[in-house]
Amino acid sequence: MPATLPKCSLRRKRCNALPQSVASAIRAALLTGDPRAKCFATRAVAKDWRRGALAFAFDVAMPDAPARPERPELLAPSQMPKRGKGGSDRARIALWHSLAHIEFVAIDLALDMAGRFGDAMGAEFVSDFLAVAADEAMHFALLARKLESLGSHYGALPAHGGLWQAAHRTRHDVAARLAVVPMVLEARGLDVTPATLERVQAAGDSGGAKILARILDDEIRHVGQGTKHFLRCAEMVQANPETLWQSLVKRHFKGAIKPPFNDSARLAAGLSREFYAAVAS
Ligand SMILES: [Fe+2]
Ligand SMILES: [Fe+2]
Repeated sequence: MPATLPKCSLRRKRCNALPQSVASAIRAALLTGDPRAKCFATRAVAKDWRRGALAFAFDVAMPDAPARPERPELLAPSQMPKRGKGGSDRARIALWHSLAHIEFVAIDLALDMAGRFGDAMGAEFVSDFLAVAADEAMHFALLARKLESLGSHYGALPAHGGLWQAAHRTRHDVAARLAVVPMVLEARGLDVTPATLERVQAAGDSGGAKILARILDDEIRHVGQGTKHFLRCAEMVQANPETLWQSLVKRHFKGAIKPPFNDSARLAAGLSREFYAAVAS
Protein backbone atom coordinates (compact mmCIF):
# COMPACT_ATOMS: atom_id res chain seq x y z
CA MET A 1 0.00 0.00 0.00
CA PRO A 2 1.37 3.48 -0.76
CA ALA A 3 2.74 5.17 2.33
CA THR A 4 0.83 8.37 1.49
CA LEU A 5 -2.62 7.00 2.25
CA PRO A 6 -4.15 8.47 5.39
CA LYS A 7 -4.02 6.15 8.40
CA CYS A 8 -7.77 5.68 8.40
CA SER A 9 -8.09 4.89 4.69
CA LEU A 10 -9.96 1.71 5.57
CA ARG A 11 -12.55 3.90 7.17
CA ARG A 12 -12.63 6.42 4.34
CA LYS A 13 -16.30 7.12 4.85
CA ARG A 14 -15.65 8.44 8.33
CA CYS A 15 -12.62 10.45 7.20
CA ASN A 16 -14.58 12.32 4.56
CA ALA A 17 -17.66 12.85 6.71
CA LEU A 18 -18.20 15.92 8.84
CA PRO A 19 -17.26 15.38 12.50
CA GLN A 20 -19.94 13.64 14.53
CA SER A 21 -22.26 16.02 16.37
CA VAL A 22 -21.78 16.34 20.11
CA ALA A 23 -25.52 15.67 20.55
CA SER A 24 -25.39 12.31 18.78
CA ALA A 25 -22.34 11.23 20.81
CA ILE A 26 -24.12 12.21 24.03
CA ARG A 27 -27.31 10.47 22.94
CA ALA A 28 -25.36 7.27 22.24
CA ALA A 29 -23.84 7.37 25.75
CA LEU A 30 -27.28 7.96 27.30
CA LEU A 31 -28.63 4.98 25.39
CA THR A 32 -25.84 2.69 26.61
CA GLY A 33 -27.26 0.59 29.45
CA ASP A 34 -24.34 -1.54 30.55
CA PRO A 35 -22.61 0.38 33.40
CA ARG A 36 -19.03 -0.27 32.29
CA ALA A 37 -19.85 0.61 28.67
CA LYS A 38 -21.71 3.76 29.77
CA CYS A 39 -18.66 4.93 31.74
CA PHE A 40 -16.43 4.23 28.75
CA ALA A 41 -18.76 6.01 26.30
CA THR A 42 -19.11 9.00 28.64
CA ARG A 43 -15.39 9.46 29.09
CA ALA A 44 -14.92 9.11 25.33
CA VAL A 45 -17.52 11.84 24.60
CA ALA A 46 -15.90 14.20 27.12
CA LYS A 47 -12.43 13.52 25.68
CA ASP A 48 -13.53 13.85 22.04
CA TRP A 49 -15.29 17.13 22.83
CA ARG A 50 -12.22 18.46 24.65
CA ARG A 51 -9.94 17.73 21.71
CA GLY A 52 -12.34 19.29 19.19
CA ALA A 53 -13.35 16.04 17.50
CA LEU A 54 -17.10 16.65 17.92
CA ALA A 55 -19.10 19.38 16.19
CA PHE A 56 -21.15 21.87 18.20
CA ALA A 57 -24.35 20.56 16.60
CA PHE A 58 -27.62 19.43 18.12
CA ASP A 59 -29.22 17.42 15.35
CA VAL A 60 -30.79 14.68 17.49
CA ALA A 61 -33.07 14.85 20.53
CA MET A 62 -32.16 13.41 23.91
CA PRO A 63 -34.13 10.31 24.95
CA ASP A 64 -36.94 10.69 27.50
CA ALA A 65 -35.14 8.23 29.74
CA PRO A 66 -31.60 6.86 29.56
CA ALA A 67 -30.86 3.17 29.07
CA ARG A 68 -30.02 1.29 32.25
CA PRO A 69 -29.03 -2.25 33.13
CA GLU A 70 -31.66 -4.85 34.10
CA ARG A 71 -30.28 -4.76 37.62
CA PRO A 72 -30.50 -3.05 40.08
CA GLU A 73 -34.23 -3.39 40.53
CA LEU A 74 -35.63 0.11 41.10
CA LEU A 75 -37.95 0.62 44.08
CA ALA A 76 -39.86 3.57 45.52
CA PRO A 77 -37.93 5.06 48.47
CA SER A 78 -40.61 3.76 50.89
CA GLN A 79 -40.08 0.19 49.62
CA MET A 80 -36.31 0.22 50.06
CA PRO A 81 -35.14 -2.45 52.53
CA LYS A 82 -33.42 -1.26 55.70
CA ARG A 83 -29.63 -1.18 55.46
CA GLY A 84 -29.05 -3.39 58.48
CA LYS A 85 -27.02 -2.61 61.58
CA GLY A 86 -24.19 -0.08 61.17
CA GLY A 87 -20.83 -1.84 60.99
CA SER A 88 -22.19 -5.11 59.61
CA ASP A 89 -21.02 -6.31 56.19
CA ARG A 90 -24.59 -6.06 54.96
CA ALA A 91 -24.84 -2.41 56.03
CA ARG A 92 -21.48 -1.59 54.49
CA ILE A 93 -22.41 -3.11 51.14
CA ALA A 94 -25.80 -1.36 51.21
CA LEU A 95 -24.10 2.00 51.81
CA TRP A 96 -21.63 1.64 48.92
CA HIS A 97 -24.35 0.26 46.67
CA SER A 98 -26.62 3.24 47.26
CA LEU A 99 -23.73 5.63 46.61
CA ALA A 100 -22.82 3.77 43.39
CA HIS A 101 -26.41 4.08 42.21
CA ILE A 102 -26.47 7.84 42.86
CA GLU A 103 -23.30 8.22 40.80
CA PHE A 104 -24.65 6.02 38.02
CA VAL A 105 -27.72 8.23 37.66
CA ALA A 106 -25.50 11.33 37.98
CA ILE A 107 -23.69 10.28 34.77
CA ASP A 108 -26.97 10.42 32.86
CA LEU A 109 -28.06 13.65 34.56
CA ALA A 110 -24.89 15.43 33.44
CA LEU A 111 -25.01 13.96 29.91
CA ASP A 112 -28.65 14.96 29.53
CA MET A 113 -27.90 18.48 30.80
CA ALA A 114 -25.21 18.97 28.12
CA GLY A 115 -27.17 17.31 25.30
CA ARG A 116 -30.58 18.81 26.00
CA PHE A 117 -29.62 22.38 26.83
CA GLY A 118 -26.19 22.79 25.25
CA ASP A 119 -27.53 24.27 22.03
CA ALA A 120 -29.22 27.16 23.84
CA MET A 121 -26.55 27.61 26.51
CA GLY A 122 -23.37 27.43 24.41
CA ALA A 123 -20.03 25.64 24.20
CA GLU A 124 -18.81 26.48 27.72
CA PHE A 125 -21.95 24.92 29.17
CA VAL A 126 -21.33 21.75 27.12
CA SER A 127 -17.68 21.65 28.27
CA ASP A 128 -18.64 22.09 31.91
CA PHE A 129 -21.31 19.39 31.96
CA LEU A 130 -19.34 16.88 29.90
CA ALA A 131 -16.52 17.33 32.41
CA VAL A 132 -19.08 16.69 35.18
CA ALA A 133 -20.30 13.56 33.35
CA ALA A 134 -16.72 12.25 33.10
CA ASP A 135 -16.23 12.88 36.85
CA GLU A 136 -19.46 10.99 37.63
CA ALA A 137 -18.30 8.07 35.48
CA MET A 138 -15.05 8.03 37.49
CA HIS A 139 -16.97 8.19 40.80
CA PHE A 140 -19.17 5.30 39.69
CA ALA A 141 -16.15 3.24 38.63
CA LEU A 142 -14.45 3.81 42.01
CA LEU A 143 -17.59 2.79 43.90
CA ALA A 144 -18.27 -0.23 41.68
CA ARG A 145 -14.70 -1.39 42.38
CA LYS A 146 -15.20 -0.79 46.09
CA LEU A 147 -18.34 -2.95 46.03
CA GLU A 148 -16.40 -5.68 44.24
CA SER A 149 -13.69 -5.54 46.90
CA LEU A 150 -16.45 -6.31 49.43
CA GLY A 151 -17.60 -9.34 47.44
CA SER A 152 -20.62 -7.60 45.92
CA HIS A 153 -21.37 -5.65 42.73
CA TYR A 154 -23.56 -2.88 41.35
CA GLY A 155 -26.96 -4.42 40.70
CA ALA A 156 -26.79 -6.89 43.61
CA LEU A 157 -29.30 -4.86 45.67
CA PRO A 158 -32.40 -2.85 44.80
CA ALA A 159 -31.93 0.90 44.33
CA HIS A 160 -33.83 4.16 44.69
CA GLY A 161 -36.05 4.64 41.65
CA GLY A 162 -36.87 8.33 41.95
CA LEU A 163 -33.61 9.98 40.94
CA TRP A 164 -34.39 10.48 37.26
CA GLN A 165 -37.82 11.99 37.93
CA ALA A 166 -36.48 15.39 38.98
CA ALA A 167 -34.68 15.56 35.65
CA HIS A 168 -37.72 14.47 33.70
CA ARG A 169 -39.96 17.05 35.34
CA THR A 170 -37.57 19.85 34.34
CA ARG A 171 -36.86 18.71 30.77
CA HIS A 172 -38.28 21.87 29.20
CA ASP A 173 -36.55 24.46 31.35
CA VAL A 174 -32.81 24.77 31.83
CA ALA A 175 -33.12 27.18 34.78
CA ALA A 176 -35.43 24.71 36.57
CA ARG A 177 -33.07 21.80 35.78
CA LEU A 178 -30.07 23.72 37.15
CA ALA A 179 -32.05 24.82 40.20
CA VAL A 180 -33.08 21.24 41.05
CA VAL A 181 -30.24 18.96 39.95
CA PRO A 182 -26.91 20.61 40.82
CA MET A 183 -28.28 23.18 43.27
CA VAL A 184 -30.59 20.90 45.30
CA LEU A 185 -29.68 17.24 44.70
CA GLU A 186 -25.92 17.58 44.34
CA ALA A 187 -25.79 20.26 47.06
CA ARG A 188 -27.48 17.72 49.36
CA GLY A 189 -24.48 15.49 48.74
CA LEU A 190 -22.24 18.23 50.16
CA ASP A 191 -24.34 18.19 53.36
CA VAL A 192 -24.31 14.44 53.97
CA THR A 193 -20.95 13.24 52.62
CA PRO A 194 -18.71 14.62 55.44
CA ALA A 195 -20.61 12.62 58.10
CA THR A 196 -20.45 9.45 55.98
CA LEU A 197 -16.74 10.04 55.41
CA GLU A 198 -16.17 10.38 59.15
CA ARG A 199 -18.06 7.15 59.87
CA VAL A 200 -16.13 5.27 57.21
CA GLN A 201 -12.83 6.66 58.52
CA ALA A 202 -13.77 5.80 62.12
CA ALA A 203 -14.47 2.21 61.00
CA GLY A 204 -10.86 2.03 59.76
CA ASP A 205 -11.70 2.05 56.06
CA SER A 206 -9.14 4.57 54.83
CA GLY A 207 -9.56 3.48 51.18
CA GLY A 208 -13.30 4.18 51.39
CA ALA A 209 -12.65 7.53 53.08
CA LYS A 210 -10.28 8.50 50.26
CA ILE A 211 -12.96 7.79 47.65
CA LEU A 212 -15.49 9.92 49.55
CA ALA A 213 -13.01 12.79 49.98
CA ARG A 214 -12.39 12.83 46.24
CA ILE A 215 -16.12 12.73 45.48
CA LEU A 216 -16.79 15.58 47.93
CA ASP A 217 -14.12 17.75 46.29
CA ASP A 218 -15.51 17.11 42.82
CA GLU A 219 -19.10 17.69 43.92
CA ILE A 220 -18.25 21.17 45.23
CA ARG A 221 -17.08 21.93 41.69
CA HIS A 222 -20.26 20.43 40.18
CA VAL A 223 -22.54 22.54 42.37
CA GLY A 224 -20.36 25.53 41.51
CA GLN A 225 -20.80 24.95 37.79
CA GLY A 226 -24.55 24.53 38.19
CA THR A 227 -24.74 27.76 40.17
CA LYS A 228 -22.59 29.64 37.64
CA HIS A 229 -24.88 28.73 34.75
CA PHE A 230 -28.01 29.34 36.84
CA LEU A 231 -26.77 32.88 37.52
CA ARG A 232 -26.42 33.36 33.76
CA CYS A 233 -30.02 32.19 33.27
CA ALA A 234 -31.23 34.65 35.93
CA GLU A 235 -29.30 37.44 34.24
CA MET A 236 -30.81 36.60 30.84
CA VAL A 237 -34.33 37.06 32.21
CA GLN A 238 -33.23 39.89 34.52
CA ALA A 239 -34.48 38.08 37.60
CA ASN A 240 -33.14 38.12 41.12
CA PRO A 241 -31.25 34.78 41.29
CA GLU A 242 -32.31 33.84 44.82
CA THR A 243 -36.00 34.60 44.20
CA LEU A 244 -35.98 32.79 40.86
CA TRP A 245 -34.28 29.74 42.41
CA GLN A 246 -36.77 29.63 45.29
CA SER A 247 -39.79 29.79 42.99
CA LEU A 248 -38.40 27.08 40.66
CA VAL A 249 -37.54 24.79 43.55
CA LYS A 250 -41.01 25.20 45.06
CA ARG A 251 -42.60 24.37 41.72
CA HIS A 252 -40.38 21.49 40.61
CA PHE A 253 -38.85 19.84 43.67
CA LYS A 254 -41.16 17.61 45.68
CA GLY A 255 -38.84 16.76 48.57
CA ALA A 256 -37.76 18.81 51.56
CA ILE A 257 -34.68 21.01 51.75
CA LYS A 258 -33.57 20.27 55.24
CA PRO A 259 -30.70 21.17 57.54
CA PRO A 260 -28.07 20.56 58.70
CA PHE A 261 -26.42 22.35 55.77
CA ASN A 262 -22.73 22.27 55.00
CA ASP A 263 -22.67 26.06 54.68
CA SER A 264 -18.93 26.32 53.97
CA ALA A 265 -18.95 23.73 51.14
CA ARG A 266 -22.12 25.28 49.72
CA LEU A 267 -20.57 28.73 49.85
CA ALA A 268 -17.42 27.44 48.16
CA ALA A 269 -19.78 26.38 45.34
CA GLY A 270 -21.34 29.86 45.20
CA LEU A 271 -24.52 28.79 46.97
CA SER A 272 -25.04 31.28 49.77
CA ARG A 273 -27.64 30.96 52.53
CA GLU A 274 -29.71 33.64 50.77
CA PHE A 275 -30.71 30.90 48.33
CA TYR A 276 -31.77 28.09 50.64
CA ALA A 277 -32.50 29.51 54.09
CA ALA A 278 -35.93 30.76 52.98
CA VAL A 279 -37.09 27.36 51.64
CA ALA A 280 -35.51 25.14 54.32
CA SER A 281 -37.98 23.04 56.31
FE1 LIG B 1 -20.49 12.30 41.68
FE1 LIG C 1 -21.84 15.48 40.77
